[in-house]
Amino acid sequence: MITIAISSQKGGVGKTTVAINLAHSFARSGRRTLLVDADPQGSVGLSLTRQSRLLAGFYDLIQDPTLSAEELIVPTRLETLSLVPAGQGSAYELGGGSMGVSLHRVRGFLRDLDAKGFEVCIIDTAAGLFGVTADVLTAANAVMIPQQAEPLGIRSVPKMLEALTRMRIVNPHLTVLGVVLTMMQVNLPESRDTVQALRNILPHELVLHTVIPRDDLFIKASARGLPVGVMDAGALTLGIFDKLRLEVERKLVGVIAG
Ligand SMILES: Nc1ncnc2c1ncn2[C@@H]1O[C@H](COP(=O)(O)OP(=O)(O)OP(=O)(O)O)[C@@H](O)[C@H]1O
Ligand SMILES: [Mg+2]
Repeated sequence: MITIAISSQKGGVGKTTVAINLAHSFARSGRRTLLVDADPQGSVGLSLTRQSRLLAGFYDLIQDPTLSAEELIVPTRLETLSLVPAGQGSAYELGGGSMGVSLHRVRGFLRDLDAKGFEVCIIDTAAGLFGVTADVLTAANAVMIPQQAEPLGIRSVPKMLEALTRMRIVNPHLTVLGVVLTMMQVNLPESRDTVQALRNILPHELVLHTVIPRDDLFIKASARGLPVGVMDAGALTLGIFDKLRLEVERKLVGVIAG
């Protein structure tokens, strides 16, 4: 099983949106996919299942050694897509002191999922690279970093590079898939220029070719906790996330099973 964390230092950059839609694309391609909500705010499961707020989830598993991965897996309408909600333990203390404490629980969880035959595990994390997120990054095979394609985004580049360095320190085996630019406003020259500027500043292998456009459909979909592809008029965005998935698969050749 390949585990891909979707992480960033900054909040509100599109992590959850990328995680849901990328997981949906992997599942549609036929791979048995699990989407894990490791954000204590618990936004992934919001309404993928109506009761997800009441279900046990990732943060319960971290706190309660008697829980098994099996008990947390929620099926979706798409046979190849399941999810693990954030759970009731979501009030879990995010403080920096917890790094390493939950690492063996996270590793055990991923081993169990692997044994259950999942091929891809996408983990949506909270903003910031400390605490449980650091443990997730230590246990993951790969990480993708969403970044909003707006002029202010350029200012956060040094922090982004620093974050990437830190990810590689916690886990030297981590494949850094790179930065995925999100919320690009295709008709706005400033937005297009920003994409170009970020490409000029960042090492080219660290910026994914696929850019996610800004589209109101994402806001409508996220209000319902759904992948945008299942919405009416979502067909175009399906293609975008399929393109992103193919890029990921190319970068993970040798790590991911054909
Ligand atoms: N491509 C897009 N087009 C339009 N709106 C988008 C797009 N991507 C995300 N959004 C919206 O921007 C907001 C933030 O996105 P999202 O929740 O995915 O970010 P996040 O990084 O997970 O945030 P947080 O750090 O709070 O977890 C949401 O309201 C979402 O619907
Ligand atoms: Mg989020």
